Amino acid sequence: MLNLLAIPFLLPLILPSALAVDCECYRTSTGHYFTNYEFYDFRKQSGPLPPVPELPDSLPRSPRPTAEDYSSNPKIGAYQDGYIRSDEFTSSWSIQDWGKEPTSEFPIRMQNSRSNVYFVSADSSNSSSKMVVRTHRFDTFQSSAEIESAVQNVLYASIRVRARVYGAAGAVAGFFTYFNGQNETDIEVLTRDDPTEIRYSNQPVTDDRGNEIRGSSTKVNMTSQDRTDGTEAEKLKKRATPTTLIRYDDWHTHRVDWVDGKSSWFVDGEHLLDKKYGVPIVPSYFIMNLWSDGGVWSGNMTKGQSAYMEIEFVEMAFNTTGGDRSSSNRNVKGASAAKCDSICVIDGVAVTGTPEGAQSGAFKSAVNPWSLGVAILMIAVVLCVRMHIADSGGSGKMSLGKQPKLGPEAIGKRQENDVAGGVDRRVANEGI
Ligand SMILES: *[C@@H]1O[C@H](CO)[C@@H](O)[C@H](O)[C@H]1NC(C)=O
Ligand SMILES: *[C@@H]1O[C@H](CO)[C@@H](O)[C@H](O)[C@H]1NC(C)=O
Ligand SMILES: *[C@@H]1O[C@H](CO)[C@@H](O)[C@H](O)[C@H]1NC(C)=O
Ligand SMILES: *[C@@H]1O[C@H](CO)[C@@H](O)[C@H](O)[C@H]1NC(C)=O
Ligand SMILES: *[C@@H]1O[C@H](CO)[C@@H](O)[C@H](O)[C@H]1NC(C)=O
Repeated sequence: MLNLLAIPFLLPLILPSALAVDCECYRTSTGHYFTNYEFYDFRKQSGPLPPVPELPDSLPRSPRPTAEDYSSNPKIGAYQDGYIRSDEFTSSWSIQDWGKEPTSEFPIRMQNSRSNVYFVSADSSNSSSKMVVRTHRFDTFQSSAEIESAVQNVLYASIRVRARVYGAAGAVAGFFTYFNGQNETDIEVLTRDDPTEIRYSNQPVTDDRGNEIRGSSTKVNMTSQDRTDGTEAEKLKKRATPTTLIRYDDWHTHRVDWVDGKSSWFVDGEHLLDKKYGVPIVPSYFIMNLWSDGGVWSGNMTKGQSAYMEIEFVEMAFNTTGGDRSSSNRNVKGASAAKCDSICVIDGVAVTGTPEGAQSGAFKSAVNPWSLGVAILMIAVVLCVRMHIADSGGSGKMSLGKQPKLGPEAIGKRQENDVAGGVDRRVANEGI
């Protein structure tokens, strides 16, 4: 069967489309399923990037700047040129520009500014990029930054951020889901903490009288996994053999999982903590920010100093309520649940950010039947044609000319029939 030799050469052409994974839901390392997935890769900008915006050294007339504030004083907060202004970015993220007046509890005036979020090259050859978020203490105020997700109706999620935080003490770098002060799951780096430590909290962390609620917030040593949260249950776990130090000023992937009744936190895929206190119950959005307000939590930053948070990517698997991602309708989208045949995994994949068809027996379901139909048909056509050539002993050109039924319309028709007739996928797989 000489003709069969042609198949290996054709496979590379056919397989990629047959194997293209059409994910209907996404499974995490902890076995939770989500119907939405986004990978926001901030490393993709190349070439010399637009200049870093100047520090916004003056305040708008009120904490909510107006168009007039911006036109009269561009340094209040001009966006960087380039990607930050693109549809791709602005359809997913919104850079905030609100501020807050000082109070007795939070004595430093704080102002979020659009110019504190920008992209820079991540390497000397300018071939990749990262997002930088900046905060700076001026004499009379703290210039800060906040980025909110456009998706506002997230109800349960697994969110991962590859980031590092460094700079002066007195800043808080936050990655968190938010609806209100009682529905908020936080990952926070306090730059006044030792670089080996991180804070995991569910709000509220203080009661009506301003006292800390035991167990609401936990300080975790990311290396030893020692933890303190003001309860007797603290120091539950201690890693036997500490590996290299995990520090917030090095690049690590920080992850929070929010599911019904439980929040869990991870670093580089390693599970560090669960919390059942204060698990949010309402549709929320995702926020990343870097701020300070002179309160007890953030502390004060020394005047003239800065802190930075750098982000390479944000990966989110999540469920939403309502049909529209921006609605806060509480009806959980049902359609996807019913047809969650093709499951993809997002952890332990070859390339982070590229979900893969689930392994055990799921190859079958992850393969798009339509593409598979095309692949089988093409192989059949090749065999047919080759056999015909062999039979007639004539030239390929002649033989091909004798196959009128195999024009595009005919192929389309065949495909439909195959799909409608239900191709036996197991046999088809073995056949390939
Ligand atoms: C990288 O970009 C900067 C400007 O952003 C430029 O000055 C520098 O020469 C570039 N480096 C390379 C290796 O192209
Ligand atoms: C979340 O917000 C809702 C609506 O405002 C509220 O009823 C609830 O107590 C909040 N907190 C938690 C943990 O559910
Ligand atoms: C966290 O744990 C590591 C490893 O045991 C240790 O070297 C480091 O000092 C600890 N950090 C703090 C603040 O105790
Ligand atoms: C920060 O400084 C202000 C004075 O500018 C002071 O009132 C406040 O107590 C300080 N905050 C902390 C946490 O020490
Ligand atoms: C997300 O929604 C799907 C479909 O409704 C459901 O099967 C899954 O359990 C949900 N995930 C979580 C973590 O609640």
